[in-house]
Amino acid sequence: MSARPVCPVEETAVAPAPDWWQSAVIYEVYPRSFADGDGDGVGDLAGLIARLPYIAALGVDGIWMTPFQPSPQVDQGYDVTDYCDVDPLFGTMEQFESLLSKAHALGLRILLDVVPNHCSSEHPLFQAAVAAGPGSPERDMFHFVTGPVDMTDDDDAGSASGAASGGSIDSANDVPPNNWQSVFGGRAWSRATPGSATDTDWYLHLFSAGQPDWNWRNPAVGDYFDGVLRFWFDKGVDGLRIDVAHALFKADGLPDSPSTGGVVDGLRSNPQVSDQEDVHEVYRRWRTLAEKYEPHRLLVGEVNLEPARAARYTRADEMQQAFAFAFVKLGWDAEAWAAVGNELEAARQLHGAAPTWALENHDIVRSVTRFGGGELGSVRARAALVALLGLPGAAYIYQGQELVLPEVDVPVEARVDPMWARGGVCRDGARVPLPWTDDATMNHGFSLAGTAAEPWLPVPSGWGTHSVERQEQDPQSALNLTKTALELRRQLWKNEIFTANDGGSWRVEPGHLLICERNEHFLVAVAMGAEPVQLPAGTVLLSAVPLAEEGRLQPNNAVWVLRG
Ligand code: BGC
Repeated sequence: MSARPVCPVEETAVAPAPDWWQSAVIYEVYPRSFADGDGDGVGDLAGLIARLPYIAALGVDGIWMTPFQPSPQVDQGYDVTDYCDVDPLFGTMEQFESLLSKAHALGLRILLDVVPNHCSSEHPLFQAAVAAGPGSPERDMFHFVTGPVDMTDDDDAGSASGAASGGSIDSANDVPPNNWQSVFGGRAWSRATPGSATDTDWYLHLFSAGQPDWNWRNPAVGDYFDGVLRFWFDKGVDGLRIDVAHALFKADGLPDSPSTGGVVDGLRSNPQVSDQEDVHEVYRRWRTLAEKYEPHRLLVGEVNLEPARAARYTRADEMQQAFAFAFVKLGWDAEAWAAVGNELEAARQLHGAAPTWALENHDIVRSVTRFGGGELGSVRARAALVALLGLPGAAYIYQGQELVLPEVDVPVEARVDPMWARGGVCRDGARVPLPWTDDATMNHGFSLAGTAAEPWLPVPSGWGTHSVERQEQDPQSALNLTKTALELRRQLWKNEIFTANDGGSWRVEPGHLLICERNEHFLVAVAMGAEPVQLPAGTVLLSAVPLAEEGRLQPNNAVWVLRG
């Protein structure tokens, strides 16, 4: 790894200063797995406060925190009962306020997760809707649809009353209002009051039965969420990550989906719930609200669509950012990266917003494992991280990515993900508590109090070999590489080698050498083939692993090049 001083470039016309988020790198914290302040085996706000200096020392610009609001935790907090409070499992509102001010004092912005597609079946408004009965205005806040009851089978465990477990046992004889599938597997409908002859309503849940979908065609839902946004923005929260942002509106009349075809992907493969045009009005309204605050608040969307459709959510009056999901689906394949990179660039040129890069999050198999696992996977994951941080646009790093943590094969009996329970896919392997110390005591330093209960997900043996403690002592570690890359990135922005107008021009050179030319001064190169390749001309500012040969780039290494 080499970090050399950056050559100054000639001054041209003075461009307006970019907004902070255009150059930002945000660190995603999954609070229950980050640090456990009270020793109960579940990460919390006290743990995060204690570990803020670690995040600040990485050199990132902010933190995105996944949900910590009150919730029965059917989907680890993505099933919210009160959008404007803190679940006692994670701490108190006073602790959140202290976290916010401490983070700000360290120069870190705080983004929260807002979950507007659905709430918990224990949310008071959903409970009121169930109690108020069919046809009531309370039920119009959600998607309740009447359907005949099949009296031959009363085995429907997927219901509002049984939803706390998030489970659903579909009764083949009981036919729901349409053929929509839940993203987590199984049908997307459960009975409001199972077995009742008078309440024959079903309710819609694109995820588990414990997560009823809001009816965004009812203006009261929009008003309710305005209040949620204001609550957090008034507190000084810097922005929001918007969960399942492209699915809030369902096609009028809730028609059958033409494309379920046995695919256990209730969202992307269902055009009746994905990317309905009306949803853009929500983000226009939210952008206006976000810009009533100084500094303007940031909106970043989980818009899991192909680049051209996703980019429409970042038009000038909608969100500022949407994750470049197309990238997380790619293997170690230069041609595929270049093709998707150019698609994202075409979308940027059309709609103006640079891609927002992310290779990992709490829902995705860790990149070490996706890129081949073991030593090979971890070398590639380092290279991918270096590449990511040099690309034009903002970037998000998921906790543990800086340690190149692999996906963990969580023992079946310890798995808690509702997606696993309903559909067979398990996301727990990317959510195992972080290893802070080499030594296994106190759950490898995850638990900070005097005693430590078993962590909510078991850590595998040898977890300490990836620990922060060990990597801090190793100059060649992924952790130190991440810090170096972030520091250099900051200098490049400062020296205007990186600018907000940069766009990626992607190509593949012989030997599967992936190149992304960021601008006339700078390019990223990743050797994705099996043989060493010719290094592009220029000065190597950074490499994922030390260069082994003058003028050549070894397989699975990545470099930042200041072009000659
Ligand atoms: C979140 C998942 C969650 C789902 C339902 C996703 O986008 O990232 O963790 O299960 O939304 O809220």
